[in-house]
Amino acid sequence: MGSPQITENPTIAVDEDEENGISAECKELIHGCRKEKGWRTSFLYEFQGFWCQPKEIDAILSFQKHYLARDSDVILATIPKSGTTWIKSLTFAIMNRNNAPVSDGNHPLLASNPHDLVPFFEYKLYAKNQNPNLSILPKPRIFATHIPFGSLSESIKSSDCRIVYVCRNPLDTFISSWHYINQLRRESRPPIPLEEAFDMYCKGVIGYGPFWEHMLGYWKESLERPNKVLFMKYEDMKEDAMSHVKMLANFLGLPFSVEEEKQGLIEEIVKLCSFKKLKDLEVNQNGKSIKNFDNKHLFRKGEVGDWVNYLSPSMVHQLSKIMDEKLGDFGLKFKVCSTVS
Ligand code: A3P
Repeated sequence: MGSPQITENPTIAVDEDEENGISAECKELIHGCRKEKGWRTSFLYEFQGFWCQPKEIDAILSFQKHYLARDSDVILATIPKSGTTWIKSLTFAIMNRNNAPVSDGNHPLLASNPHDLVPFFEYKLYAKNQNPNLSILPKPRIFATHIPFGSLSESIKSSDCRIVYVCRNPLDTFISSWHYINQLRRESRPPIPLEEAFDMYCKGVIGYGPFWEHMLGYWKESLERPNKVLFMKYEDMKEDAMSHVKMLANFLGLPFSVEEEKQGLIEEIVKLCSFKKLKDLEVNQNGKSIKNFDNKHLFRKGEVGDWVNYLSPSMVHQLSKIMDEKLGDFGLKFKVCSTVS
């Protein structure tokens, strides 16, 4: 890695490595974008109305050009730290229950991290290859993304493929993001102070944010086209996982039969994909599914309301006000509660 180069803002050092390997098109594009100090990289760039890192932008450009959705595809969408790992595992278990029985001691989720079973468009499929051959993947294909609804490829919007969006209370998503990014920065940079990260989050400057735009894009679409977009909340899933698994299977066009329900399959899926079960697996204790990053950091607490341990009353007030102002008029509300003792 080259030594950091100082730019016009002397407080921010540009890590040249961040732009290494990205296409000329992307380089030119980001140099015309508004930028802000990043969480993980030196900068986040405002691309198509959301904040993103250079390598992600490059992959998203390829995805937008080349990805052709099939009607049978399922896309799992989230803003980071909202329950992506969980929804990947649940959807994988539901959709593969015939060829990978949930009670089987060799179930793929016991040996592989959910991120290895359900690939991201922008971190995996289009990150290394501008036009990967996805037609060879077995149907139905399950993909994941953090890309906001407005920037999904046209074929996703016009085809009959289904989208599942998981949303999480921003107070908890912020705390989860702050912990996670500080783990990612551990080797190369000092941690971001909580207050600084909070200001960035409230300004909307976080990967794929502003969070309110991200949520509203999928929320509005789910209201207009409920058969196209299923909108779920992390807190509701924690409260009643069984009914959400059932709802998810119905939405995916793979409802549980009476026989399956009687056999307790829904409960088995909930157990297999539970935080504790996944966290304790060898692959998730000691494996690495994300470059240079231990899987164990994907499983921190998995609780609702951990924000009470970190945020001051004035921070809670400030963020709750933003949630109310940005989301309230559209009927998108969160229970600001805590189950953490
Ligand atoms: P915390 O940091 O609050 O513990 P993502 O998967 O989108 O990166 O979201 C990460 C958050 O989901 C983390 O929250 C993580 O602990 C939690 N999580 C991971 N797997 C989970 C599971 N199976 N059930 C519930 N929560 C889970």
